[in-house]
Parts: sequence; C-alpha cells; structure tokens
Amino acid sequence: MNAQPVHIILVAAIGENGIIGSDGQLPWRLKSDLQHFKRVTSGRPVVMGRKTFESIGRPLPNRTNIVMTRDLQFAAPGTTLATSLDAALAIGRDDARRRGIHEIMIIGGGDVFDSTMAMADRLEITHVHASPKGDVAFPAIDPAVWREAARQHYDAGPDDDASFDTVTYERR
Ligand SMILES: NC(=O)c1ccc[n+]([C@@H]2O[C@H](COP(=O)([O-])OP(=O)(O)OC[C@H]3O[C@@H](n4cnc5c(N)ncnc54)[C@H](OP(=O)(O)O)[C@@H]3O)[C@@H](O)[C@H]2O)c1
Repeated sequence: MNAQPVHIILVAAIGENGIIGSDGQLPWRLKSDLQHFKRVTSGRPVVMGRKTFESIGRPLPNRTNIVMTRDLQFAAPGTTLATSLDAALAIGRDDARRRGIHEIMIIGGGDVFDSTMAMADRLEITHVHASPKGDVAFPAIDPAVWREAARQHYDAGPDDDASFDTVTYERR
C-alpha cells in the first residue's frame, strides 16, 4: 500500500483580466504554452469538465482523461467519465498511485476550477500578458493563501498571441 497523499494541482492559463475562456474555446493562440501544458500534465491523471473536453475534442494522449458530467448518456471514448467531483478524484487517486506518482491535475474549465480551488495543494498558472474578451474566468488567487514558488518568463514565439509567465503557487 502507498499511503502518501495525492496532491491536487490546478493547471490554467489566465489573462491579466482573469479570463480563461471565450465561447467554449481558449481566448488566444499560444503554442508555447500548450507545450508547457503538455510537460506539466503528461503521464498523469487529468480531470476536466465536459465542456472543456468538448472544446479539446479528443482525449489528451499519454494521460488518463477523467471527464466530469452529470449526463448519464454522455459518451467519450478514450476517457473515464465521473458523475461527481468525489468520483473524479477517487478515480484520479487510484490512477496516480498505479502510476507511482502523487498528483492529480485539474485542467478546467471555470466551473471545475471554482469547485476545486479550495482543495488545491498547488497551482501551475500561465499568466498571459493579454486581456481578451471572454465569458469564463479563473477564481481569484489570494496572496494571503498562495505563495509564488517559481516563475519563468516566455517571450511570444511565432505561434503565440502574447508573451506569458508560468508561475507555480504553493499554499502558505
Ligand atoms: N485557459 C485555460 O486554462 C482553460 C482551461 C480549461 C478550459 N478553458 C476554457 O473554459 C471554458 C469551459 O469552462 P466552463 O466553466 O464553461 O465548463 P467546464 O468546467 O469545462 O465544464 C462544466 C461541465 O462539467 C460538468 N461538471 C462540473 N462539475 C461537475 C460535478 N461536480 N459533477 C459532475 N459533472 C460536473 C458539467 O457537465 P454536464 O453539463 O455535461 O453535466 C458541467 O456543465 C472553455 O471556454 C474552455 O476553452 C480554459
């Protein structure tokens, strides 16, 4: 038995205005951040809401895709469906332990971030240097609760709409 706790990590890209989504899609094109997202989440269980799964359109490779929905008719080949947050986290914990790791990555969207922020152990945030219009936002990151532990700056590459900083926040 491996009794080491499995940590809950939120992974999000956020505009300077807090926006993370627009019309069911990401509000920017950021190829360099998608590469960062792949590095951070690969080989791990990823938990997402049904709307985020539909916006991605396919299971993410090399990760256990856990999709939350209350719709018992919903079908998403290549994923594991969960009808509650508790069920999603239980599936994620089992999968993480099977993989010999101690992390469940919560990858959105806004609805799922809102309901998991209070239980998160770490945040892996891409702060995008842009303020796009949108309809979904990330919850506030309270500096009294979260301490910045690492930061890396990325200039905008040829396939990026903006420059960005990736920041790791740990709970104080
Ligand atoms: N910038 C980023 O880092 C980032 C990351 C991810 C997504 N996004 C963006 O965010 C937007 C999507 O976010 P969203 O808030 O609209 O939707 P979402 O969080 O992706 O999905 C919401 C859906 O998840 C299911 N769900 C949520 N909580 C549940 C629970 N406790 N039990 C069972 N099912 C549950 C429900 O599905 P049913 O309705 O099927 O029951 C709910 O309608 C898109 O624009 C996307 O591009 C941005």
